Amino acid sequence: MLDEKKVVLSGIQPSGNLTIGNYLGALRNFDAFPDCKCIYCVADLHAITVRQVPAELRRRTYETLALYMACGLDPEKNILFVQSQVPAHAELGWVLDCYSMFGELSRMTQFKDKSQHHADNINAGLFTYPALMAADILLYQTDLVPVGIDQKQHLELARNIAERFNGIYGDTFTVPDGYIPTTGMKIMSLCDPTSKMSKSDPNPNAVVYILDEPEVILRKFKRAVTDSGTEVCRGEGKEGIANLMNIYACFTGKSDDEISAEFDGRGYGAFKQAVGEAAAECLRPIREQFTRLMADKAYLEEVMKKGADQAAYYARKTMSKVRRKVGFAL
Ligand code: TYM
Repeated sequence: MLDEKKVVLSGIQPSGNLTIGNYLGALRNFDAFPDCKCIYCVADLHAITVRQVPAELRRRTYETLALYMACGLDPEKNILFVQSQVPAHAELGWVLDCYSMFGELSRMTQFKDKSQHHADNINAGLFTYPALMAADILLYQTDLVPVGIDQKQHLELARNIAERFNGIYGDTFTVPDGYIPTTGMKIMSLCDPTSKMSKSDPNPNAVVYILDEPEVILRKFKRAVTDSGTEVCRGEGKEGIANLMNIYACFTGKSDDEISAEFDGRGYGAFKQAVGEAAAECLRPIREQFTRLMADKAYLEEVMKKGADQAAYYARKTMSKVRRKVGFAL
């Protein structure tokens, strides 16, 4: 541990516009640790494992940082930074590549999925990506990692790498735990409730973006795929309704029983309208604050610079330990 406080770290790739999946699964939990040292990165090194348009990547990096702040993360109380601006991530990433096994990296389901989607660009970065993510986490002696359930496998690999390294060289890295929310851990597509809502989905109707206008949010929920029934409850073949119940529960704090009672006899139309309204209402202040922050690029750059300096300070401590243990010339 750095200081005495527990360390919380997470990151989001600026590889598309952020969705309510990113928000409910991760971002909204980032400020749930008032007594911890919280470190959040915009994971741009990860984003280039898939081909990006450079100007768009840069713009989304600023936007993601602004969204962190618009969601309530105060840069005076949290370390907010851009991953590529702290070179120790790439440095430790390489070291950990050498402690990650081909077999375990081959088993990563995200690697298998992405290889299928980007068959023309199955690059080495896509394959070793979980070792870089382990570096992000282990560099800060992280205790807790707030993420959605899709990152659980990567997190377990980070734990294995930490334990392997510690086993060889003695105590070097804190072994991190995940912080995965129960209700928002996997928000599904509105067009296909059996697949995850993803910022890279080419169909914008499948995805609600954090920055969507209220009318757009209402329209998308109105069109959400459900089933031919009428009852708002969970059950066989009701994945669409279950997903909407999860989203509504996250935005309102209501339980399944309360939701079922509220829409008893009112049908899916009224329920979808209410989910849309709840989402639009919660996201409105975030969008407004985001717009204000994006108007001041100089301020965002100041935050980035300060965050990178703070992160680099802690990263250096771990790196000098790693350099010593591995046997690099000092
Ligand atoms: P990324 O950018 O794919 O997603 C960012 C966060 O959002 C969560 N998430 C979801 N949660 C619920 N429902 C969904 N549909 C949904 N979609 C995404 C993800 O679980 C994640 O928490 N490799 C990471 C970024 C990363 C990172 C890190 C995370 C880089 N370094 C270090 C933690 C620690 C990623 O690609 O997340």
